Amino acid sequence: MPVALVTGGSAGLGRALVHTLDQQGWTVVTDGRDPARLAGAVAGLGAVVPVPGDVADPDHQEALAREVAWLGRLDLLVHNASTLGPLPLRPLRELTADDLLTTWRTNAAAPVALTRLVLPQLRVAAGVVLSLSSDAAVEHHETWGAYAAGKAALDHLTLTLGVEEGLMAYAVDPGDMRTTMHQDAFPGEDVSDRPTPESVVPSLLALLAARPPSGRYRASAWAVAEVPA
Ligand SMILES: NC(=O)c1ccc[n+]([C@@H]2O[C@H](COP(=O)([O-])OP(=O)(O)OC[C@H]3O[C@@H](n4cnc5c(N)ncnc54)[C@H](OP(=O)(O)O)[C@@H]3O)[C@@H](O)[C@H]2O)c1
Repeated sequence: MPVALVTGGSAGLGRALVHTLDQQGWTVVTDGRDPARLAGAVAGLGAVVPVPGDVADPDHQEALAREVAWLGRLDLLVHNASTLGPLPLRPLRELTADDLLTTWRTNAAAPVALTRLVLPQLRVAAGVVLSLSSDAAVEHHETWGAYAAGKAALDHLTLTLGVEEGLMAYAVDPGDMRTTMHQDAFPGEDVSDRPTPESVVPSLLALLAARPPSGRYRASAWAVAEVPA
């Protein structure tokens, strides 16, 4: 059975991806900081291993890596857990250095640390690293600076790891999605017109199946045509 590690599997895109991988027979290790929400998200699934914790915590990174080591291989590593930084989003002049570093620890440093710990199992399986990026990584929007710079760093770090370690590596912008994170970014706005995270998962899987060269991609470019009812 192929093995995946998907961070942030208790909600949003991570949860949708874990559910689909489970349906397809994968063994999935996943996490989230809220233990009850994580347990609820994976309840009733098959070979899914929930490991509650914060991706930025080195002890938790070790705990995830122990589960992967026990499984012996890692076909897919998805860096999905992410933070917007201090809310409401605000201009850079209102952020402290600690605000920036805390945001980047979760969004950029943690994925590198976690990847390093599971490199042996990625090598065994010729595994793929997929980091969830954002249009913010390449565009410049007011109040998005901390998050955006973290995503730009994540793109660069992911693709550099790919080159250094001989792994397939993708930084993928999923596009806007109707999730808690998106609502947090636009408080008070009706975000019900945004696509569901479930609708993005087939695009991610299509990209993974096609195995294009390592690089930065938009999920929408891999959208799977809907079969008419
Ligand atoms: N939604 C969008 O419109 C959008 C657009 C572009 C890119 N993205 C990217 O797509 C990815 C998924 O976003 P989403 O909207 O699905 O997010 P979401 O709905 O907020 O879900 C985030 C998931 O990650 C977990 N998480 C957050 N911080 C964590 C941490 N420090 N350690 C462990 N788990 C953590 C959350 O659980 P806990 O809170 O319990 O930890 C939750 O399970 C993110 O990388 C995001 O930056 C989203």
